Amino acid sequence: MGAGMKVLFRALSYFRPDAGRIASVFCLLVGSIVLNVLKPWPLALMVDCVLGQRRLPALLGPAGAWPKPVQLGCLAAAIFLLHFGQGALAWAQNYSSIGVGLRGLTRVRQAVFARLQRLSLRYHQGANAGDLIYRASWDTYSFQTLFQQGLMTFVTALLSLLVMVCVMWRLNVPLTLVALALAPLMVMGIRLFGGAMRERTTVAQQADSRVTSLVQQSIAALPLTQSYTREDYEAGRFQGEAVEAQKRRLSQHGSELAYGFAIALIFGFGAAMTAWLGGRQVLAGALTLGKLLVFLSYLLQLYEPLNQLSYVGATVAGAAAGTRRVFEILDAPESVPDGKLSPKPGVQQIDFRGVSFAYEPGREVLREISLSLRRGETAALVGPSGAGKTTLLLMLPRFFDPTGGGIELDGVDLREFRLQDLRRQMALVLQEPIILPATVAENIAYGKPGATAEEIQAAARAANAAAFIEKLPQQFQTRIGDGAARLSAGERQRINLARAFLKDAPILLLDEPTSALDAESEALIAASLRELLRDRIGLIVAHRPATIAGLARVLEMADGRLRKT
Ligand SMILES: Nc1ncnc2c1ncn2[C@@H]1O[C@H](COP(=O)(O)OP(=O)(O)OP(=O)(O)O)[C@@H](O)[C@H]1O
Ligand SMILES: [Mg+2]
Repeated sequence: MGAGMKVLFRALSYFRPDAGRIASVFCLLVGSIVLNVLKPWPLALMVDCVLGQRRLPALLGPAGAWPKPVQLGCLAAAIFLLHFGQGALAWAQNYSSIGVGLRGLTRVRQAVFARLQRLSLRYHQGANAGDLIYRASWDTYSFQTLFQQGLMTFVTALLSLLVMVCVMWRLNVPLTLVALALAPLMVMGIRLFGGAMRERTTVAQQADSRVTSLVQQSIAALPLTQSYTREDYEAGRFQGEAVEAQKRRLSQHGSELAYGFAIALIFGFGAAMTAWLGGRQVLAGALTLGKLLVFLSYLLQLYEPLNQLSYVGATVAGAAAGTRRVFEILDAPESVPDGKLSPKPGVQQIDFRGVSFAYEPGREVLREISLSLRRGETAALVGPSGAGKTTLLLMLPRFFDPTGGGIELDGVDLREFRLQDLRRQMALVLQEPIILPATVAENIAYGKPGATAEEIQAAARAANAAAFIEKLPQQFQTRIGDGAARLSAGERQRINLARAFLKDAPILLLDEPTSALDAESEALIAASLRELLRDRIGLIVAHRPATIAGLARVLEMADGRLRKT
């Protein structure tokens, strides 16, 4: 229970900024409970004093002398006013508490999104995107559930219960004892069912998350699926997972319902006992009819908070499983810890010193690579597929850190630098071009947010992209990247190049930037590249001679090692 409580307190800590609002919710809550407890009393007075032979309590002052019909009218009005006031307070209380719940949800989602943005490539490559989407969008609701259906319901139910039990105790002790005898039975029920419910909820959430990731993966693989006509196979696979999720959910709800049934049995027993004993007391003249009515009305109302309390355990157990899955993201260890230094402006030199790297322990992809590049120098990296070229490039922005040796920038190990400052020194074009759902201009200016239209156009020209952009429906203002306007592989590549050109960083890292281009485009870009690289450090993975023509150094890579030529 210790670790479980820790998770709960940690989840609720996301609501701390709303402490003031929560306090006002509690004030409304207390008011609504007090009015609720007063609700059955006008009826009791009516039965005992107006219709029966007793006197109205002295508390009501001169009202005792009024004519009976007036007394009846006043008590009826009191019934209405109590219901109205209690309803209004409950409305205000629920509305604010839902507001607080939603604000907490937003806070958690922001934290998860920010964390996902910062987690290293190594984390994302090891994670399942669909599962992350499920956790960030659905599991985050658990925080709201925990606050509203967990904390708020618990406090509301407990307070109502306490107040009602106190009043019942003053009305009639033996009947109250019978009602209280239900509590230990309920604790037993929670013990009996709680663990199983928690377990089944976790399993059901995992199955749901597998369904989400399957949808996401199959959309990504759609061209493949359709061209290989494997739609039926995919549909079958999906049905398997969907039915599995259905079974898991059913089993979860089954255990919840069985639990609810057990609780209902306990209550049925309690209600029968109280009715029997209460009836005998009225027969014996130990209780007035009005007070028995109040007692019965409390007893019926007792059912609701007790029932809520009995479900709070299940709700909290389910929500705790969701929050735990969210915390797994928030607590994921950072494999690329941040440094403190900032590189000095005007980077002069990069040195690889015996760099080794393995994605998985024992399988080295880079082996003792040593290499120096000075300002004004560009090296071409060639070699067979799988040699480790991309991996070598990705070491510079520290998507991965070497497992042996180190990389230095002007004599300082990369790990000493603040990641953001280090990455500002580099423009990277990945082997797989990435287009953001935004306009062409926004895509190109991604690395230089304040860029002018002229700068964007110049970068597009240097990347030989201006001509095709001019032909798009709204030229530079055309939205691309989300299915609106489709770009060819070579066009995507040139947008990515223009983005890197515009960033104007001292280090340029290009991974096969012209692989999808025709010879003419390639030659044009190669010319811009040489111009751009004159005063920078460049590392270009390329296979085709035209791209690397005129570069002083060609480094051949094979099986994770460099062979200088
Ligand atoms: N995220 C990863 N996890 C595990 N192994 C990886 C990962 N990325 C690449 N590898 C492995 O590392 C080796 C080098 O991959 P890398 O992408 O650096 O090759 P490359 O030289 O760029 O090849 P290509 O010319 O095909 O792009 C390959 O054997 C590959 O299977
Ligand atoms: Mg590669």
